[in-house]
Amino acid sequence: MLKRGSRSKQLFGIHSFRIPALVSSVTLILLVLILFSRDGDKKPMPVPAHLKQRWNRFDSLVQFRPVVEFRNGTDLISQIPDSPKAVLFIAHGCNGRAINFWDRSPTCQQCVGLPEERLLVLEGLSRKFAVLTVSSMGRCWTMGEERVIVRDIIRWWIGKNKLEKLPLVALGASSGGYFVSALATNLRFSSIVLMIAEGMFDQMDVPEDYPPTLFVHMPKDTYRQQKIDEFMPVLKSKGIDVAAVECVEFPLSVSTFAERIPGVEENVSAKLFELFRSKGFVDANGYMKSDGRKTRWKKALQENKNVLLDRQLVNHVQEELNLAFAYHEMTSLQSEEIFKWFESHMS
Ligand SMILES: *[C@@H]1O[C@H](CO)[C@@H](O)[C@H](O)[C@H]1NC(C)=O
Ligand SMILES: *[C@@H]1O[C@H](CO)[C@@H](O)[C@H](O)[C@H]1NC(C)=O
Repeated sequence: MLKRGSRSKQLFGIHSFRIPALVSSVTLILLVLILFSRDGDKKPMPVPAHLKQRWNRFDSLVQFRPVVEFRNGTDLISQIPDSPKAVLFIAHGCNGRAINFWDRSPTCQQCVGLPEERLLVLEGLSRKFAVLTVSSMGRCWTMGEERVIVRDIIRWWIGKNKLEKLPLVALGASSGGYFVSALATNLRFSSIVLMIAEGMFDQMDVPEDYPPTLFVHMPKDTYRQQKIDEFMPVLKSKGIDVAAVECVEFPLSVSTFAERIPGVEENVSAKLFELFRSKGFVDANGYMKSDGRKTRWKKALQENKNVLLDRQLVNHVQEELNLAFAYHEMTSLQSEEIFKWFESHMS
């Protein structure tokens, strides 16, 4: 969980086996504490340990070698690790595509590799999940025939790759979350994760064998928070295992963009951060003042000839700004909780 009070637990819990990372994280937290203690107005805020996990932390474990296919008028991009233990289907949000989940590589020249999407896939592959991503037919997912088409695509892909014996799990974000919540009545998932989406539970009959459901949500979005608070007891009353993980805002720093986005150098990251600070987009402690989508940072960037951000990385920066504000964005920061959910509901 990314709650303010529980960050030190995160640091010493799941990543304590990485001693050098731990030592540098502790040093960094001390530095941050010292810096922030002079500011006064907002509480000192240690940088969460998982933000110190760089974009390339899987380099020695997995490489992107996805297979791109077309079927039923859409594209599917997938990768199967050696000895897979489960199949993970991921549904993107509105305006998303399968190409966002995979870095550009010889087998996928058009792939985009958005920072959070790519880390979710890498986490899955490194834990021996075969990962399947499919693009929606339109801008967002639709709840009618598209469910049947995607159900058939998943079954076909599993059959073709002879993975029928493995547990099947699903993660959907935003529009993809609503889609997965409904698709779970068409396909047998061992468990599902609904990210920044409350699901369609007020519009469907939830069967008692509905899969265990984890909500990964951003409580700043109070509408969805209330819906999740409303749906969880309903699911529980039917004997369905449910839980929620909250994602909260975090401060940006000079190195955030270099740490999270492949292709952003430290110097460009620092200049971006300084630009955002000088324009008042972030406060004295590095917190975004509004959602990234509502912040006119692209205009500020255009007007500033000093910050040479690769134009192809604008959406990547946008995603991190939205994530830091923590209102509505894809997140890989809760990967540990997400994959523990899948792994603990596989029988
Ligand atoms: C999807 O494509 C396959 C092969 O092209 C076809 O047999 C199947 O009927 C299609 N499914 C739907 C729902 O259109
Ligand atoms: C940033 O640093 C790299 C080397 O690390 C250098 O090649 C590049 O020109 C620098 N970019 C800017 C905008 O200063």
